[in-house]
Amino acid sequence: MDYTRLSDANVITEKYMDSILIEERLIDSKVADISTTFFGEKFDSPVMTPAFSHLGNYKGRERNGLEEYSLAAKECNILNFCGMMENDQFKRIADTGAKTVRIVKPYADNGKVRDQMQFAEEAGAFGIGIDIDHIFGSEGLDICVGEQMGEQTSDMLRSYVEMTKLPFVVKGVLSVTDAVKCADIGAKAIIVSHHHGRLSYAVPPLMVLPKIRDAVRDRGVKIMVDCGIASGADVFKALALGADAAAVGRSMLPALEDKGTEGAAEFLRNVGKELRYIMSFTGFEHVSEIDDSVLHFI
Ligand SMILES: Cc1cc2nc3c(=O)[nH]c(=O)nc-3n(C[C@H](O)[C@H](O)[C@H](O)COP(=O)(O)O)c2cc1C
Repeated sequence: MDYTRLSDANVITEKYMDSILIEERLIDSKVADISTTFFGEKFDSPVMTPAFSHLGNYKGRERNGLEEYSLAAKECNILNFCGMMENDQFKRIADTGAKTVRIVKPYADNGKVRDQMQFAEEAGAFGIGIDIDHIFGSEGLDICVGEQMGEQTSDMLRSYVEMTKLPFVVKGVLSVTDAVKCADIGAKAIIVSHHHGRLSYAVPPLMVLPKIRDAVRDRGVKIMVDCGIASGADVFKALALGADAAAVGRSMLPALEDKGTEGAAEFLRNVGKELRYIMSFTGFEHVSEIDDSVLHFI
């Protein structure tokens, strides 16, 4: 008997995304426009960079991977994200000029959470947020790269929202329950994500998206999604199922490692081009019009 069981959420997510098919609607269709708007700013596409951390200096180049992909985001005029890091590293990212959302870790030291958020605002961040899916680890509370993480209550999240003028983003939402709590505390955006499979059998973000969309659609919360996004088709499916934007993830790494800013920019542009192609093929001229009526599920 085979006792091996599939539990890897990355594999489950990929299979789910590949089970979604797209029909064509070509007559009267036009070349699509993939530009979009977030929080009053126009972006060239709804493809975003991932909230990454701890990338090295690939091939001995002067800037590390985080700075290189931030420059790519600026070049492509898309929304940029970054993750766990100290303030000096964030400053270098802010200095690239990319419109960046800083996702702070849920440190047990609440003073550090607040300090990093405040620093980001002063350094010119476009938005700030927290990833809630690194709170727990196998020993209870998580220890991430040597740092103790801590529980986050609705009141704590609300207090971060209240201390900033910037849009506040909660990353790692994977249920209607958490999405509604994010709306309640005044978050302006959520990232629907299982953080590349931190939870075994985590539901694929695209599977839970429609319910989340229905629950918070009218509450002024932008919905972003990540995990397994590697192509324009993946982005299209995410938008059709309720997302306003989607972030690539590890799919960007080979191009980034190989050719730095130029490689990441080329990858991000190609994802956008494929999105435009599929929108044109399905009769959606603008990003905001895309809906799930063209999707079929195997
Ligand atoms: C090297 C690396 C570092 C990451 N660091 C962070 C981080 O500091 N904060 C965070 O919220 N997510 C972090 N992530 C998770 C990504 O933001 C994203 O949720 C995930 O990679 C999406 O899954 P995918 O790579 O399968 O597309 C990291 C991922 C990688 C690969």
